[in-house]
Amino acid sequence: MASTFSFLFFVTMIFATNCKVTIEDLEPLETGLREYFQTSQTTDEFLETLHSYEFPFLLRDGMEQVYDSATVCYMCSLVVDFVINQRKNAGVSRETILDEATFLCTELKMESERVCKGEMELNIDIFLYTIDNYPNFTSNRVCGGFLQAHNCDTGDAFEWTINIPSGNSPDRPKPSGTDSFTILQLSDIHYDPKYTPNGNAVCGEPICCQPDQGDPSSPENACGYWTDYRLGDSPWYLVEETIRQTKTQQIDYVYYTGDIIAHRIWETSIESNTDAISKLYSFFKDSYNVPVYPIFGNHESHPHNVWPYDNVDDKLSMKWLFELAAKHWSDLIGEDVSETVLKGGYYTVSPRPGFRIIGINSNVAYTDNWWLMYDDFDPYGQLQWLSDTLKKAEDNNESVHILTHVPTGTYYSLKVWNREYSKILERFANTITGHFNGHTHRDEFAVYYNSSNPTQAIGAVFNGASVTPYYLANPSFKYYQVDETTFDLLNYEEWTFNLTLANSYGSLKLPEWYKLYNFVEAYGVNSLLPSEVDKVLYKMVQDHSILDDYFKFKYRNGDPGIKNGCDDSCKKTLLCNIVTTVYGENEQCERFMDLYDQ
Ligand SMILES: *[C@@H]1O[C@H](CO)[C@@H](O)[C@H](O)[C@H]1NC(C)=O
Ligand SMILES: *[C@@H]1O[C@H](CO)[C@@H](O)[C@H](O)[C@H]1NC(C)=O
Ligand SMILES: *[C@@H]1O[C@H](CO)[C@@H](O)[C@H](O)[C@H]1NC(C)=O
Ligand SMILES: *[C@@H]1O[C@H](CO)[C@@H](O)[C@H](O)[C@H]1NC(C)=O
Ligand SMILES: [Zn+2]
Ligand SMILES: [Zn+2]
Repeated sequence: MASTFSFLFFVTMIFATNCKVTIEDLEPLETGLREYFQTSQTTDEFLETLHSYEFPFLLRDGMEQVYDSATVCYMCSLVVDFVINQRKNAGVSRETILDEATFLCTELKMESERVCKGEMELNIDIFLYTIDNYPNFTSNRVCGGFLQAHNCDTGDAFEWTINIPSGNSPDRPKPSGTDSFTILQLSDIHYDPKYTPNGNAVCGEPICCQPDQGDPSSPENACGYWTDYRLGDSPWYLVEETIRQTKTQQIDYVYYTGDIIAHRIWETSIESNTDAISKLYSFFKDSYNVPVYPIFGNHESHPHNVWPYDNVDDKLSMKWLFELAAKHWSDLIGEDVSETVLKGGYYTVSPRPGFRIIGINSNVAYTDNWWLMYDDFDPYGQLQWLSDTLKKAEDNNESVHILTHVPTGTYYSLKVWNREYSKILERFANTITGHFNGHTHRDEFAVYYNSSNPTQAIGAVFNGASVTPYYLANPSFKYYQVDETTFDLLNYEEWTFNLTLANSYGSLKLPEWYKLYNFVEAYGVNSLLPSEVDKVLYKMVQDHSILDDYFKFKYRNGDPGIKNGCDDSCKKTLLCNIVTTVYGENEQCERFMDLYDQ
């Protein structure tokens, strides 16, 4: 889930949720900042100004609510250009910029002081590297990408294409549904070695239930035993319990769609990430006697979210992670995948004749991947490789399942990458028979449509939801039934337990897992083929109560998640999210809104 942070952005966000703020209203702050950056002195007046704008934890909740884009872009370029200027023209030191960033973050009450400090310390060198090594670096490269939701000027950045072979995706046989096998999808475990039952669940930091966050102010604010709806991640015994439960059914393959590391994002290290990653992969290896296909989440890297290029200096390199993954993944998959994993964290294997799996590192397109401002062109050559790999699969009549972590179509996935990715999906629509993602911690799906025939659904992607409740949801996983000859998805079952209930027994009793629903029954369709998922959307616009079910499933019936229900505007948002696969392209959303209102 997006737990984002950037010192180049903190000020911008302050105004973001307040529609009344215009560029003129920013004058006191702008003046204060200008003086502060020039003199490094803080006056009482400036502090007062900062405090008047303070907006706690805004970044953590994401930017959906953000508007008044002109103001946001204006502030972003203002602050970023201050910093670039300081560095390039005045040679201001790392320590000074770090202090300034930490000061502003803390005074604006964006996060606690230690979180501000940790995040700045972890990320500053990427910005400084870019400023120092990118000739003519401008704020466009930061604001245009990171703030794509606001359409800030991008200059000439973030516009490129890759070579996709011409032609159409050949028709392929449809599933007979007679023989099938089972794939388990697990996602977003976020294993927290420091999880503290009875710790403080109302902690004011990006993750709660930590040993160093003081005592809960009341019994209601104490963290539950199994984990906690309020920013709790997964203790190891929840991981063990979940894996134990997944093995109560016969499974043939496991897909792990990323995110292993807990949300203690301000304090990650190569060492602690390596420990958690190795522990989980080794446990997978010991637990499952079938192949496990893992991909990276945005939290596996250190610092989280960032994916540097091969040639950056060693201090910033992610080589340690690629090497670690190459070893573990080859072991879990039962085949050497190191060549492409070392290049960029992606791979392909064919587990049985006619069937191919492609693991993608879509985290590179996360707008919080600061390396995009240094170079955004097809990071790691991955999309070109994806297109080439799908072409080979098509030539060999193979069916392909694609695993990605960060979904496309959201404000935080780089538009140009999404667009090229969607073009690839469309070109190879009939070759791709399964598409799985994670990251949002929500049980949800999305539908891709044919750009030259907009009512034709050509792809569906299913989110694995999460084991961590982070936040408001019940832990869960999915079993998919897959056609044995076409490798199309026939159905899935979602399993979960009531965390409120489980925590009421604490360690005295194992959670009571139950099947929340299966797709075919819940939505009254025949399979998970794109054309069938498309039918679900037509049902939803006719019978809005189906969106109530979708909403409850999203949180796996998690009590606090479903407490307020889903009103009309919430339902419309759900529907639009399902049909938006490139951020900002709204034709499908509009088409379904018309149907909804009829
Ligand atoms: C940087 O900008 C200067 C002045 O506009 C221009 O002469 C130079 O070619 C640019 N350098 C690069 C590498 O784009
Ligand atoms: C793929 O299928 C087509 C049509 O059924 C067939 O002509 C071709 O030989 C097959 N190619 C391979 C590599 O199996
Ligand atoms: C998309 O629509 C075009 C035009 O109708 C058609 O030629 C193409 O085959 C369609 N793509 C798929 C994957 O069906
Ligand atoms: C979960 O369990 C609690 C405690 O028994 C109960 O109050 C609540 O209604 C249950 N939630 C759902 C969605 O069934
Ligand atoms: Zn996650
Ligand atoms: Zn994630």
